Amino acid sequence: MQTILVLFGGVSPEHAVSLVSAEAVLRNMNKENRRILPVGITREGKWLLFGGDDYAEIANDKWEENPANKTAFLSPERGAGLCIVQGGSIETLPVDAVFPVLHGENGEDGSVQGLFQLAGIPYAGCGVCASAASMDKSVTKLIAATTGVRQAKWLTLHRAAFAADPDAMCRKIAETLGFPVFIKPCSTGSSVGVSKVKSADALQAALETAFRYDKKILAEEFINGREVEVAVLGNDAPKAATAGEIDAGAEFYDYETKYVTSTSTPYIPARIDGETMTAVRGWAVKIFTALGCAGLSRVDFFVTRDTNEIVFNEINTLPGFTPISMYPKMWAADGLPFPELIDRVIGFALEG
Ligand SMILES: Nc1ncnc2c1ncn2[C@@H]1O[C@H](COP(=O)(O)OP(=O)(O)O)[C@@H](O)[C@H]1O
Ligand SMILES: [Mg+2]
Repeated sequence: MQTILVLFGGVSPEHAVSLVSAEAVLRNMNKENRRILPVGITREGKWLLFGGDDYAEIANDKWEENPANKTAFLSPERGAGLCIVQGGSIETLPVDAVFPVLHGENGEDGSVQGLFQLAGIPYAGCGVCASAASMDKSVTKLIAATTGVRQAKWLTLHRAAFAADPDAMCRKIAETLGFPVFIKPCSTGSSVGVSKVKSADALQAALETAFRYDKKILAEEFINGREVEVAVLGNDAPKAATAGEIDAGAEFYDYETKYVTSTSTPYIPARIDGETMTAVRGWAVKIFTALGCAGLSRVDFFVTRDTNEIVFNEINTLPGFTPISMYPKMWAADGLPFPELIDRVIGFALEG
């Protein structure tokens, strides 16, 4: 019998997305010879072992109200496992592996991975360093540059410099990158705080928005391209699935387009020629390796509309697992159904 702790929710702007991903992972996970411990982290950071058996309560954001929930936490003490608070005492349950179905801050950035590491519990996905480097887009860019992949021209900008002289920052962006320009926080996901700015008069407001989420942000040259995503799976010999493509059907692939409206259309495989397909899969594995990733990641690119050039955009070490998410769909299209994909991810976690 294998005990898998599925961790979801979290103190992150992507809390709601994690709930939807978690329901899908829990529902699709093979249950034979496996005990599943679904543990949610509330928006305030409280840990609860979900006591219900209807995973829909998680996706619907009703799980916190289940009367059978129990306060539970992972102790950093090695080998302690999951600690469950029962009245005045603590019961401990050994855990074989954790599957963190968390997105963004505190879940995808190495924080919680550090806890698993201290506790000595194997976990799905990237380690502390790769998670942290992949979550911070300015750090990701520096490491990705060592592979020689093309990236959008960028500026890394700091909140303190903006506060001191916003006009100077706006001028520098306009002179260096022109318009349209993308403004994005270094450490959010799901397009939270991201703006496409078409003219100088809208720049300051976009910077203010991004700086609300992060002290460090990026200004990026606009790339007119198809959005091509590559699912990578494995540890030392990672494999890339056939790339997919998202047509946002909107100005860009923003939060609304991702999770609220349904204007976006996925294409699996991506609408690119065979040579570009081979090349983009190769870049995905190189970037995964350069960042020191493990288990899984989704590596996102643009393929320019005019010259078919591959431009690396970003990497997601805990990609979405919602019913509309690309990562599981791309593997399914390559013949690896969701339940088997989860088994593989857990297998890589146990392999260490
Ligand atoms: N330099 C760029 N050129 C064109 N579109 C961009 C650029 N940067 C981001 N975007 C658009 O914004 C979306 C979100 O940006 P992204 O860097 O992927 O951040 P997130 O981590 O929030 O997904 C992308 O999917 C794309 O639609
Ligand atoms: Mg993205």
